Amino acid sequence: MADALIAVEDLSEEQARAELTRLAAAIAHHDALYHGKDQPEISDADYDALKRRNDAIEARFPTLVRTDSPSQRVGAAPVGIFSQVTHARPMLSLDNVFSDEDVTDFVASVYRFLGVMPDNSIAFTAEPKIDGLSMSIRYENRKLKTAATRGDGATGENVTANILTIKEIPTELPADAPDVVEVRGEVYMAKSDFLALNAQMEAEGKQTYVNPRNTAAGSLRQLDPKVTASRKLKFFAYAWGEISTMPAETQSGMVEAFKRWGFPVNPLTRRLSSVEEIIAHYREIGLQRADLDYDIDGVVYKVDRLDLQARLGFRSRSPRWATAHKFPAEQAFTKVEAIDIQVGRTGALTPVARLEPITVGGVVVTNATLHNADYIEGIGNGGERIREEGHDIRIGDTVIVQRAGDVIPQVLDIVPEKRPETAVKYEFPKTCPVCGSHAVREKNEKTGKLDSVTRCTGGFVCSAQAKEHIKHFVSRNAFDIEGLGTKQVDFFFDSEDPALQIRTAPEIFTLKKRQEGSTLTKLENIEGFGRVSVRKLFDAIDARRDIALNRFIFALGIRHVGETTAKLLARSYGSYKAFAEAMQQAAPKFGEAWNELNSIEGIGEVVAASIVEFFKEPRNLDVVSRLLEEVTPLDAEAVVAGDSPVAGKTVVFTGSLERFTRDEAKARAEGLGAKVAGSVSKKTDYVVAGPGAGSKLDKARELGVAVMTEDEWLDLIGG
Ligand code: IVH
Repeated sequence: MADALIAVEDLSEEQARAELTRLAAAIAHHDALYHGKDQPEISDADYDALKRRNDAIEARFPTLVRTDSPSQRVGAAPVGIFSQVTHARPMLSLDNVFSDEDVTDFVASVYRFLGVMPDNSIAFTAEPKIDGLSMSIRYENRKLKTAATRGDGATGENVTANILTIKEIPTELPADAPDVVEVRGEVYMAKSDFLALNAQMEAEGKQTYVNPRNTAAGSLRQLDPKVTASRKLKFFAYAWGEISTMPAETQSGMVEAFKRWGFPVNPLTRRLSSVEEIIAHYREIGLQRADLDYDIDGVVYKVDRLDLQARLGFRSRSPRWATAHKFPAEQAFTKVEAIDIQVGRTGALTPVARLEPITVGGVVVTNATLHNADYIEGIGNGGERIREEGHDIRIGDTVIVQRAGDVIPQVLDIVPEKRPETAVKYEFPKTCPVCGSHAVREKNEKTGKLDSVTRCTGGFVCSAQAKEHIKHFVSRNAFDIEGLGTKQVDFFFDSEDPALQIRTAPEIFTLKKRQEGSTLTKLENIEGFGRVSVRKLFDAIDARRDIALNRFIFALGIRHVGETTAKLLARSYGSYKAFAEAMQQAAPKFGEAWNELNSIEGIGEVVAASIVEFFKEPRNLDVVSRLLEEVTPLDAEAVVAGDSPVAGKTVVFTGSLERFTRDEAKARAEGLGAKVAGSVSKKTDYVVAGPGAGSKLDKARELGVAVMTEDEWLDLIGG
C-alpha cells in the first residue's frame, strides 16, 4: 500500500476526495476490529499513519472533510461490559525512583519521618516489580468471592469469571485464613507463553501481539472466560486490601502467609537493611532480568514492619513506606518529521517532535516532548549547554528518544553525522499558533532570568487555553465527568451549534437544558453518541452538581494550585463562600486575610499571589458565578472524618517535639481532620509547644489561644 500513496501535497482535489473516502472506510474497519475483537489487523503505528494521513489531507482541503471522517468522530470507548466493583480499600500506586541517590533519599526520608537515626535498624523488603496488571481478589469465609482490576484505584472491573480460569489462584483458602481477606498482586503472562502464542498466531497467518503485558490485559477483558483460560495467565501475590485478622506483623510475614494459603509469591523477594545491600540487590536483579520468564520493570522497596508502615502513612496517592526503583529508561533512534506547538491550559507553548513511529521498550512512540525553546537550542535551565555537544534539534534530524515508565517520551540528543543538509534551525514562534496573541517569556522576579516557558498572552481569548481548561475541569481529580473525554470536549468546544457548544465550564451543566429545546440539534443523532450514551453523559454531569470543595477549587485551574494545595485551601476555609471572601480581602496582598493565606503550611508566596490574582480577574469571577448557579461545592467539614476531637481545628506545632518528628505530627493531625498552620493567629485553636518554643508561644499567650504540651496533645487525640 505504502508505495502507491501520493504525497499529500501532490494530491489533486479529486484524488484527495477519493483518498478521504478510502481512509474513512479503512479506519472504521480497523476501529471495529480493535474494539470488537482483541485482534487488530494492523500495528498501532500503521493505524496512526492512516489517521495522520487523513488529518493531513483534511488540513490541506478543509472543505472536503466528510461528516463520517475519523477526525469528526467523538464516540467514547465501549464502557460497561464488566460490572464495577468498589474496592473496600483503595488500590494505590507507588512513587518511582531512578537513581542510587534517589534510593538513598527514600531510605533517609523514612528514618527522618520516624525520627530515627539512620542506623540500618529499619528493614526493607525488596520485591521485583512485575510488569502486569494489579488485581484484588476477595475471599469471604475462605471462598473466592470477587476479583477486580485496579481501575481508577477506587473502583475496578469485575473480572471474577476470568480470574477463576487462572489455575495458580486458589479458589479456596485453608482453615487458618481470615474470614474476610482481599489478596492483591499482579496478573501476568509468562514470556514463554507469550512467544508460544505469537508463534501460533503467525502460523495461522494472524497478527501477532505486541507484548506480554498488553496481551494479559486483553486476555482478562475477554467476555468469554474460555478465551482467557486458553491464555495461561499467572499471578504473584504481594499486597492486601481489607482483612479481618492479620496473619503477620511484617510485609515479609504477610507474603509468607499468602504462600501458606496457596498463592504463588515471588522467589526473588529479600529482606534487607542498608542502602548498600538494597542497591547491590537491585543490580543483581537487573542482571537476572533478561533470563526471567516474566517482565519486570524495577524493584519495589517496602518498610517491612507494618506498625512503621502505619506510622508513615500515605501521601495523596502513594505510601510513604514504599517506592519503586525503576530500571533505566529505554532508548531508540528515529527521525524528527515535524515540530508542532501545543498550547496548554496556562498558555505554556510546548514544542512536540512528531517522529517517524518507533518501538521503544514495547510501545510505539510517535511524539516526544522537546520541553521548551531553550531545550531545542541545546541550552539548559541554568543557561548551560546541554547534550553531548550542545547541538540544537532540527526537523530531519535523527534523534535518540527515551521512554521511562509512564512518563511522556523525550528527545534526548541528536546524531550529528546523520543531519541532512536540508535541516534548518527551528524558529520558536513569537505568537501563539492558535490565537495569534503574543507569546512571551516571563522574567523570574527573584533571579532576573528569563523563564524557560514561552506563554501565550491571549488568556480567555485563546481557544486552546479555554479548551484545555475544560479538559482539566472534567478530569479525574477535578469534576471527574465520565463520558467527557478529550475527544468529546474537542467536539463540544468546536461546535458552532448553540445547542451543543461548550466553551466555558458552566455550559457543561446547561447542555441538557439546551438539548431539551425541541428545535435544536439532538446530540443522540450525532454519530458516536446515541441514546444510551447521551443519557449516561447527562447522568454523569448531574451526579457532579454536588461536589467536594477541594475538587471544585482544583477544577478552577488556578495557576500553581494542584490537588494538594486545593485540599489545603478547602480544609483551611471550610466553605467556598469563606474561601472566596477571604481571597477578595487578601487582594491588596497585606493584612489579616493575606497573612492567613500565607500561614497555611504548604502555601508559599508565589502560590498565594496566584490565587489572589485569579480572584481579581472579572472574567474568572463571571465564570465562577455562572458555575455556582449550576453546582454546589460541599463544605469541607462535611467530608472530613467528623468523629475525631480535633477535626476542623487549627493547630500550630512549635518548639522541639520529643515523641514525633514534625512531619509525623503533622501527618497524624491532618489524618484526624485538623489543619496544621505555620503561624499563630486568632483562628488557631491549639498551640502544641515543646522545649525551646519562642515567639509563637508568646503570640499564643497574647491572643489567649490554648497551649498544650506534646503529651497533652497525645491525650487529646487518643495516644
Ligand atoms: S505494591 C500501596 N508491590 O506496580 C502499594 N506493586 O506502581 C501497592 N507492582 O499498581 C503496590 N509489582 O500493579 C507493589 N511487588 C509489588 C509490585 C507492584 C508490581 C505494580 C502494581 C501497582 C504498581 C504501582
